[in-house]
Amino acid sequence: MHIRHLLITAGPTQEPIDDVRFIGNRSSGRLGVDLACEGAARGMETTLLLGPTCLSVDDTRVRVVRFRTTAELQALLASHLPESDALVMAAAVADYRPVPPTAAEGAPPRKLRREQRRLTLELEPTPDLLAGCAAARRPGQLLIGFALEPRATMLDSAREKLVRKNVDAIVANPLETMDAPTIEAHLVRRDGRVDSTNGPIDKRAFGAWLLDRLDELTPR
Ligand code: CTP
Repeated sequence: MHIRHLLITAGPTQEPIDDVRFIGNRSSGRLGVDLACEGAARGMETTLLLGPTCLSVDDTRVRVVRFRTTAELQALLASHLPESDALVMAAAVADYRPVPPTAAEGAPPRKLRREQRRLTLELEPTPDLLAGCAAARRPGQLLIGFALEPRATMLDSAREKLVRKNVDAIVANPLETMDAPTIEAHLVRRDGRVDSTNGPIDKRAFGAWLLDRLDELTPR
């Protein structure tokens, strides 16, 4: 499929506990940044929704929009998805976030104090953003997700996510990929075909590898 507008999400989310602390993860955003630069180098109009990371994007052709929380990313997807031909959802979205206090409980503390007793945080599941994009997609849009999983189960998990999230393909990769310069990827498609990088490759090379394959995919 010919992609003119490419939308990529990358990096971690941060879910605030108070004004100075958050729940986050180790994602660097490197894979999405490299993929965006590869897309721009191929002449695609590329938008990168980028979470909190210290990485910068050197290619000025990439439109970079920053987010911090899952809720911010959700709002950005709602505004950018309609104009996109393909979404590559590489962001490491939090699965849980602190439950905001109810009106009766009052405003959250600006900074929790340490006390000599245990502290319990109440967490709620985040919405599945990729599944939401799939439900809102217009015909002809290509949606690609990721599955970062233990190696032994990554292909089965990818197949399960492909169906559950109703997307066109899932990139399965082992847990070691997080925060690493390389990725060993397996692209699992709806027709059951699996393409593999056959070992770790650097993330910019992966960007080229994935975009070559997206060209061959037809949206469902
Ligand atoms: N994802 C998402 N919204 C979430 C969590 C994940 O859109 N709240 C996306 C990720 O960006 C990724 C894909 O879904 O492209 C798979 O993410 P993963 O965390 O592996 O899957 P989950 O849906 O969280 O399922 P599980 O916790 O069972 O692994």
